[in-house]
Amino acid sequence: MPDISFSEHNSAQLVAQRLDKHAEGALQTFMVPFIEHLHKLIRETRPTHADWRRTVEFLTEVGHASDGRRQEWVLLSDLLGVTALIEEINTRRPKEATPNTVRGPFYRADAPRLAMDANISLDGAGPALTVTGHVRDLDGQPIADATIETWQANSEGFYENQQPDLQPDFNLRGVFTTDARGCFRYRTVRPGGYAVPADGPVGQMLGSLGFPLRRPAHLHFLIKAEGFETISTHVYDGGDPHLGQDALFGVKEELIGDFRPTGKGDALSLDFTFVMVRAKKGRGST
Ligand code: BEZ
Ligand code: FE
Repeated sequence: MPDISFSEHNSAQLVAQRLDKHAEGALQTFMVPFIEHLHKLIRETRPTHADWRRTVEFLTEVGHASDGRRQEWVLLSDLLGVTALIEEINTRRPKEATPNTVRGPFYRADAPRLAMDANISLDGAGPALTVTGHVRDLDGQPIADATIETWQANSEGFYENQQPDLQPDFNLRGVFTTDARGCFRYRTVRPGGYAVPADGPVGQMLGSLGFPLRRPAHLHFLIKAEGFETISTHVYDGGDPHLGQDALFGVKEELIGDFRPTGKGDALSLDFTFVMVRAKKGRGST
C-alpha cells in the first residue's frame, strides 16, 4: 500500500505526485522544485496559523495594488533581487562586455529620433551634462549605425511619464545613431536619484524591514546593432552617495560613470564606452 497519509515528512512528495506527468515541460520542471522548496521553507520556519494568515493577507494586498499602471508583483521581485538574478542567469557575457540590467517601468518605445548633439532636456532644468558614448565590439572595433535609446529622470529624480503635468512630453528621452567611428553625443541634465514606490504593501513591508528603497542616479540605455546582442543597461553617477545601496541590485562596477565637472559653472560631462557581443548564430538580437 503506497504511503497516502499526509505528514510533515512526505508532504512535498504527495503533492508533487499529483502533477500530471504529461504537463508542459517547463511547468513540470519548475513546479516539482517549487513544491519541494515551499514545503521545506514551511518545515524550517514553522509558521503559526496567524503567521500564515498575515502572509496570505500581504500577498492579497500585493495583488490588489497591481493594475495596468502599477505592477506591485514586479516591485516585489525587483526588491528581493529575483529580477536581477533572472537577468544574470539569462544574459551571461564575457566580463569585457557591457552587462544588462533591468529595463524598468519608465521606458517608452516611441521616443523621438534626434541628431548628434541634440539636447534631450526640453525644459533645461538642472545642471547641464554632455554625454559622449562609444560603441565597440569585443575587439575594440567601432560599431557604426548602432541605435541608442536613452531615458532618464530629471535632476529631481522624476521621469517625464511620472509627471505628465509638470514635464514636457518626451522630456529626457531620445534615440541616437552612432557615426562611422561608433560615437554618439547628446546634451542633457544631470539625473537625480530617486526612491522606488513606498506607498504600497511591498515598499511598506520591505522598508519596515530595513531594505533600502533608493536608486542611485543613473541614465538608461537600450543599444541595438545588426548582428549583436542588444544591450539594455544603466550608467550610474559615480558621485552618488547611494551607489552601494541600490534597491534593485543593478549597480556593477563596469556601469559606474565618471560625471566630470567641465569647469563651466555646474556643467558636467560623461564619456562612456559600451561593448557589444556578437549574437550567436540562430539567435537573433533580442
Ligand atoms: C528604473 O531604473 O527606472 C527602474 C527599474 C526597475 C524598477 C523601477 C525603476
Ligand atoms: Fe531609472
